[in-house]
Formats: sequence, C-alpha cells, structure tokens
Amino acid sequence: MSMITLALSKGRIFDETLPLLKAAGIEVLDDPEKSRKLILDTNLPEVRLLVVRATDVPTYVQYGGADLGITGKDTLLEHGGQGLYQPLDLQIAKCRMSVAVRADFDYASAVKQGSRLTVATKFVAIAREFFASKGVHVDLIKLYGSMELAPLVGMADAIVDVVSTGGTLKANHLVEVEQIMEISSRLVVNQAALKLKREPIRKIIDAFASAIAVPA
Ligand code: ATP
Ligand code: PRP
Repeated sequence: MSMITLALSKGRIFDETLPLLKAAGIEVLDDPEKSRKLILDTNLPEVRLLVVRATDVPTYVQYGGADLGITGKDTLLEHGGQGLYQPLDLQIAKCRMSVAVRADFDYASAVKQGSRLTVATKFVAIAREFFASKGVHVDLIKLYGSMELAPLVGMADAIVDVVSTGGTLKANHLVEVEQIMEISSRLVVNQAALKLKREPIRKIIDAFASAIAVPA
C-alpha cells in the first residue's frame, strides 16, 4: 500500500482540519502543540501528516514532499500554484484580504489625486496585482508579520493583510478601507501524486468534499 502524506500548519488550519480528517476516517495520534515531532502518525498506517510553516505548505506539495496540503488562498496566490491541483475550497480559516490605513490618513483622497502609496505587506503578489488593477502606483515593502506596525511608525501609508474580526486593526487604530478578496483554505494536491496514487487520494478528496461545512 502506498503512503499518503498530507502537509499542514499548526494552529487554526490544523484545528479546523481535524473534523475533515475525521470524516475521512483519519485520526491524528500526536498533538502538534505539545509534540516536537514534525511527522505525525495517524490511526491509518498508510497516512501521515507533516507539520510545516503555513507559507511552506504549497512548496512541500509542489516538490512532492507531501502528496496533499491544506493552505490559505492568500498563501496559494503568493506561491503561484505551480504543479498543484486545487480540487476543493474547504471553507475553513475564513477571513478577507484588505487594505488598511491609519484612521487619520485620507486614503480616498490620496487615490483620487494619483499619489504614490507606500504599502507594507507579507502579500506582495496580491498587493501588486490589486493596486495595478486600480491604476494606483505603489512602492511595496515586504514584511513577514506584524504589518499593523508599519503605518504607526511612519514606514508605510497602508498595509495589505488578512482581517477576520477586525480586532487587530482596531487595537492599532487602523481602519479597513478596501476589501480585496474573501479568503479560505484550499486542498492542494501534487499533480504527479494524483496520477500515481489516484485511488487513495480520490478517497480523501471525496471524504473532505462531503464533510465541508455548507456556506452560510
Ligand atoms: P507563517 O507561519 O508561515 O508565517 P501564518 O502565521 O500566516 O503563516 P496562520 O496564522 O496559521 O499562519 O494562518 C494560516 C492561514 O489562515 C492564512 O494563510 C490565512 O488564509 C488564514 N488566516 C490568517 N489569519 C486568520 C484569521 N485571523 N482568521 C481566520 N483565518 C485566518
Ligand atoms: C492574523 C493576521 C491579523 C489577524 C487578523 O494574525 O495577521 O493580524 O489575524 O485577525 P482579526 O481581524 O480577527 O484581529 P494571527 O492571529 O494569525 O497571528 P499571527 O500574527 O501569528 O499570524
């Protein structure tokens, strides 16, 4: 029997994937928050999980380190999706990609006047594409986290980041001025693995598909 390897990240994606795995008859034997193990066993000897950084999930699947992976649409767009088959929107880890500025920054006027904006973000591909489609000239500053700080210290006019409750923006006196897109997590599959291990991978895709929460 061939081994099936699924890559996912700790935290919200892991937590929200557990019910989907259960629907596919897969139970994880270790707790990634407690264990230092990066390869987790499951109740099925032929299925194992890799715990990787969220941003690395598409890369593991692209290069065949994992057969399948679960990753945010944001991360997938930044990666580019090369070599990946994307059969399902799992409707988990839902949030939105937005533009936010300091409450005292007049974003609408800056855009209307054709000003050049400095934008700090981890999501440079999404930001570049979004502002290009609006015809707004931007200088992008790549950050790896805590984007909310950049406008507060005068490093950027705006940020592009994911927003869920809006609590993080509010706590940092930032306001959401544009919503770029809705985000949720996707199942991605290595295209070669799908050909070589079609049956077991199909079984997992089908079980996940029937377990997806119906959108409200
Ligand atoms: P890395 O560890 O590689 O820097 P990360 O810290 O962004 O990545 P997570 O915070 O676990 O990783 O986010 C994983 C995915 O969950 C994101 O790609 C996004 O699609 C989604 N997400 C991020 N923040 C939220 C949120 N506040 N609410 C719901 N979903 C979110
Ligand atoms: C994410 C993201 C935002 C925040 C938005 O951070 O980077 O800062 O969620 O969520 P909110 O609108 O509900 O406040 P996360 O909680 O994942 O922490 P992280 O910085 O470790 O990724």
